[in-house]
Amino acid sequence: MCTPAILDAPREQVTVEVLSPLGVLPDRQRRGIGSALVRRAVELLAERGVPALFLEGDPAYYGRFGFQAGGPLGYRRPSLRIPPAGFQVLQLPAHQPWMTGTLVYPPVFWEHDLVGLRGERLAAAISATALPE
Ligand SMILES: CC(C)(COP(=O)(O)OP(=O)(O)OC[C@H]1O[C@@H](n2cnc3c(N)ncnc32)[C@H](O)[C@@H]1OP(=O)(O)O)[C@@H](O)C(=O)NCCC(=O)NCCS
Repeated sequence: MCTPAILDAPREQVTVEVLSPLGVLPDRQRRGIGSALVRRAVELLAERGVPALFLEGDPAYYGRFGFQAGGPLGYRRPSLRIPPAGFQVLQLPAHQPWMTGTLVYPPVFWEHDLVGLRGERLAAAISATALPE
């Protein structure tokens, strides 16, 4: 699923998209379905002129599609509970260099408490990655 969100850029707010959730039933995994879903989502959003697609996820999986850590590119994650390396972005053709800033999730993400990790899972994810706060 992709959901619109706001990138609070210094010049003006920009509507971007967040890829979440992505799921393939366990007995259907490792057949290319997840990859096909990500690639088609990226294609559709690029056609629609969306400038960037963000997500929270494992860089080992999403790196293959061109996603990069958002922090070094000038983006701020919506919560400190998202491990820095897990906060990733894919800049699409409509992206312009001024489009940086804080990603603001829509209310539905908070209403369902779907943001980031807590407790031991958060500590483990942060210690497993090299990116600083
Ligand atoms: C992640 C997920 C969507 C991948 O779907 P899929 O249809 O199995 O993906 P594909 O068949 O396209 O790709 C499988 C490859 O991804 C790898 N992979 C899957 N999850 C991974 C992860 N967390 N980290 C690194 N690699 C991962 C597999 O090892 C496999 O690698 P290979 O091609 O070298 O064998 C699926 O495993 C899933 O639904 N997981 C549970 C929900 C989840 O974690 N969603 C992501 C939330 S951010």
